Amino acid sequence: MANNTWNPVLLAYQFIQLLLAKLLSPDAPPPSAKLKKRIAIIGAGLTGVSSAAHCVGHGFDVVLFEAGERSQLGGIWARVNNTSGLQIHSLMYRFFPSVQWKTGYPSREEIVDNITSVWKEYSLEEKTRFGVKVEKVCQDDEERWIVNDECKYGKFDAVVAAIGTCGDPKMPHISGQEMFQGEIYHSSELDSVEEFTKGKRVAIIGGGASAVEALEFTSAAQAGKTIVLSRSDKWIIPRNAVVDMLLAMNIFGQETLLSWIPEKLLRVLFYRDLADLAPTNKGIFTETPMVNSDVLDKIREGSASWLRGDILGFSRNGIRFNQRAQGVPPGGPGKELTVECDIVIMATGFYRPKLSFLPDDCFEEPYSPPSWYLQTFPPGYMSVCAINCTYVNAIGTVGSYHIGIYTRILLMFLVDPLTRPTQQLMHAWIDMTRFFKYRAPTPAFDFFTYSELLFWYVFCVVINPFRWKWALFVFFGLGKSLPLSFVEQEDRLREKLNREAEQVERNDKSK
Ligand SMILES: Cc1cc2nc3c(=O)[nH]c(=O)nc-3n(C[C@H](O)[C@H](O)[C@H](O)COP(=O)(O)OP(=O)(O)OC[C@H]3O[C@@H](n4cnc5c(N)ncnc54)[C@H](O)[C@@H]3O)c2cc1C
Ligand SMILES: NC(=O)c1ccc[n+]([C@@H]2O[C@H](COP(=O)([O-])OP(=O)(O)OC[C@H]3O[C@@H](n4cnc5c(N)ncnc54)[C@H](OP(=O)(O)O)[C@@H]3O)[C@@H](O)[C@H]2O)c1
Repeated sequence: MANNTWNPVLLAYQFIQLLLAKLLSPDAPPPSAKLKKRIAIIGAGLTGVSSAAHCVGHGFDVVLFEAGERSQLGGIWARVNNTSGLQIHSLMYRFFPSVQWKTGYPSREEIVDNITSVWKEYSLEEKTRFGVKVEKVCQDDEERWIVNDECKYGKFDAVVAAIGTCGDPKMPHISGQEMFQGEIYHSSELDSVEEFTKGKRVAIIGGGASAVEALEFTSAAQAGKTIVLSRSDKWIIPRNAVVDMLLAMNIFGQETLLSWIPEKLLRVLFYRDLADLAPTNKGIFTETPMVNSDVLDKIREGSASWLRGDILGFSRNGIRFNQRAQGVPPGGPGKELTVECDIVIMATGFYRPKLSFLPDDCFEEPYSPPSWYLQTFPPGYMSVCAINCTYVNAIGTVGSYHIGIYTRILLMFLVDPLTRPTQQLMHAWIDMTRFFKYRAPTPAFDFFTYSELLFWYVFCVVINPFRWKWALFVFFGLGKSLPLSFVEQEDRLREKLNREAEQVERNDKSK
């Protein structure tokens, strides 16, 4: 770090972050502050902590429910390997305005530290209930939410689900596994493996971001040779903030007539001699790409290989594999071989945590997640916002400004009845988005880009004139006193009209 401190780019980056923190961080409430409306936040990962800090910073009370113990603060980042780090640039991972990244690509430890400091800065310690898994949330007659059927937590005006997409590690059973004489680990439990890896042959099963990260791990641990066994092709894009942001700028959130341009550029300038590893059956705007610049170099150097094909089973000394050529689909014809290895790393992903604690009607087709209003609000429930846990594939980032924007849209709905969408309007927005994306190769909400997400927000604010006064607040967290004073006047007017209507009714009756 000492050397980095004098790097002018890093200094400029830190100055910009300080400025953003000063301008956009909501003030932490004083301990004596009386917070209005209560919000239940489920999950104390980066999303839950950020959303909770935004809520208390804007005068709303929260209770954070976390299934894990205190050591799980930080969610998935508290559970992965010490060698894990951010693949995208941290500029795109500013999950809260006061976050101060020291480097462009922070480590797992720096990420957990930043989550913890936001948690402490906004006094969320006393508002977090660790070891409480939320199994059910339901509404009472006044539409207030009760968590786990227990009144001991009180009632809530809204629910933020922030349960992430990476739950328990997925370890599929593969035939013959018992006879394998080497070691088998999941990609998220490599901390203990390092000393055993040096000089060994390692096979990695899976071809996603964890496989790439495991390859980085084995390379740093000086494994003899690493072989990645991937059953489907995924796009890899360079670890370059400009390239990644340019790709996220496709506002249509789907393949377009011009998608061949970035694909061609990637094949020619990035994949080069390894272009046969690039997918031929899917465009770049269909699935989350992997962000990594080293993996192809390691293959070129010969310290790693990347084989496409199907796992047939384990043998005593390795994995039986059907290697397929480019374009041949999974299960198709190929060349059978045994990949000999001492260690197998299962980079086979994680189970997705379930949103089944929400009311059943949130999952009624054709409006089940991710096909919700703005992808996060189940139709009919403007007081439920499921941030970062409904998406399937995207080009963009999970830890950025949108957590604040989603949270503030929820707060706007809570305090200003005229801004709330009805169930019909929520359905209409979902249907409209489906219509605009009817030519997309994936279902409309199964893939999106960050610019598309920003477009959704702008549309959501512009379409309803009662939301205009909230625009600065929704997008930047600024200037809420003006819309609040309007809402107070509207409330007074509404009360006056109600009183007058009651008076007229009484007069009519007495006649
Ligand atoms: C190794 C690794 C590297 C990654 N790198 C990147 C990257 O470079 N860029 C990027 O954008 N994303 C990356 N990701 C994705 C990552 O998941 C997100 O960036 C982000 O950390 C998700 O945060 P979250 O708070 O939404 O979810 P999580 O961190 O998963 O936190 C969810 C929390 O909710 C709790 N919970 C779940 N269900 C319940 C329940 N019913 N009741 C109570 N609590 C519950 C869980 O215990 C957990 O603590 C990476 C993921 C991994 C595994
Ligand atoms: N630093 C980073 O950016 C980073 C690092 C790690 C993880 N992550 C994020 O964490 C999430 C999970 O990533 P992940 O890579 O762990 O999981 P993933 O994206 O779900 O990928 C799992 C891989 O394992 C394969 N697979 C699954 N079961 C298999 C089986 N039985 N036999 C053979 N192959 C099998 C899958 O193939 P199919 O695709 O054919 O199913 C896929 O290639 C993603 O959101 C990812 O972006 C990010």
